[in-house]
Amino acid sequence: MSSPTSPLKLRDMPVDARAAALGLPTADVAALHAGLTLDQANHMIENVIATYALPMGVAQHFVVNGREVLVPMVIEESSVVAACSFAAKLAKTSGGFIAGSSAPIMIGQIQVVDVPDFAVAQQRVAAAADALLHWLNAENPSTQSRHAKAVGLEIRVVRRPSSVVRQIELEAPLSSLPSAFFVIHVLYDCGDAMGANLVNTACEALAPRIEQLTGGRVNLRILSNLSDRRTAWARCVIPAIHLETTDGGRPTTDPAVVGRPPSVISSIIEASLFAEWDPYRAATHNKGVMNGVDAVVLATGNDWRAVEAGAHAFAARDGHYTSLTRWRANAAGDLAGEIELPMAIGIVGGATRVHPAAQVALKLLGVQTARELAEIIACVGLAQNFAAIRALATEGIQQGHMGLHARQIAVAAGAVGDAVERVAAQLVQEKNVRLERARELIQSNLSAK
Ligand code: MEV
Repeated sequence: MSSPTSPLKLRDMPVDARAAALGLPTADVAALHAGLTLDQANHMIENVIATYALPMGVAQHFVVNGREVLVPMVIEESSVVAACSFAAKLAKTSGGFIAGSSAPIMIGQIQVVDVPDFAVAQQRVAAAADALLHWLNAENPSTQSRHAKAVGLEIRVVRRPSSVVRQIELEAPLSSLPSAFFVIHVLYDCGDAMGANLVNTACEALAPRIEQLTGGRVNLRILSNLSDRRTAWARCVIPAIHLETTDGGRPTTDPAVVGRPPSVISSIIEASLFAEWDPYRAATHNKGVMNGVDAVVLATGNDWRAVEAGAHAFAARDGHYTSLTRWRANAAGDLAGEIELPMAIGIVGGATRVHPAAQVALKLLGVQTARELAEIIACVGLAQNFAAIRALATEGIQQGHMGLHARQIAVAAGAVGDAVERVAAQLVQEKNVRLERARELIQSNLSAK
């Protein structure tokens, strides 16, 4: 892989030359360009009729724990790849991102109903825990694995929340519902695998033993997507010098404010507080985080719905839905940001193995472990969030979006080749990025100049 130390100007290259310019061997470039074949797709899901392509871009300038990293991203939304590269470039000036992760522990849940005595059941399962783990790891063939290991059993009683039960229209009276369940958590260290299959297999395999021990009836046996034992975190500092604008932020006409415009840093901190305190804003703020996160999760063939579910549940873990990131000024007056979120991803198994583009994406990232990948993804989420709230707290996001949006409109209106850029430039110049106007421009032959 070519060293990203002297970043290539990918933007200025023809689209079909970029992958090779990153140093990928010919076979990998061919695999990327070919994407998933119909036959490969046919082995992945049912009733396949086609494959569905999305753009894969590469974010540059990322330095994670001292290593320069190229970040493949699969996303349909314009500006995300550029925004991440921009943020990473600023963070690089203070050494890049520092990232870490927990051990890759996934939680499997076994729901047990009709337990006659919770205290007795709890005591019996606790007494058998070591033997059950040994059985999973060393005796039962379907749960023995080279990559993963059962490392703990936890026993919980989940009670009906006093305030949360919502009646559904056709529901029988509440008294007919159980008021509590017995729930066993099976903890698995999944190593470099995401681990869903193994964890689900283990929960199913344990069920008869759990019924014997508790005297209850096992109902659900499935992993939890609130993988709060498998998190990744990242920090970065954006030097204040990169956050000064000539107008100190957005222009204002308020006479009370004119003459002392807000600093960009304080506006970004106010934006952070807005998301920390208000769930309506937090949802949008976190959507921006997930623009970056999902794009890498998808590029590497991982399950982005699992990561989404985990992220939002984690954001509400204290009973108040809040932001996944925080931004504050540090002692030097620079902007410091941090993120932590569950990251249930793998680099072996599943679509990461089957999808040829996911394989190349992993090569580009140069990761050796799932934890390393999780840490990079956390950095990308933080970078994307910084870029979004910096834009929102200053000029607004529409300005940055306009160029790429205009190109999409030009293509949608029928422009091809060089005409796309010409029509888009005209739309932006006129500040009139509309399909009808693009069609008019194409018809008026602007596209043929
Ligand atoms: C748009 O895809 C994402 C943003 O809404 C995120 C945010 O508001 O922080 C710009």
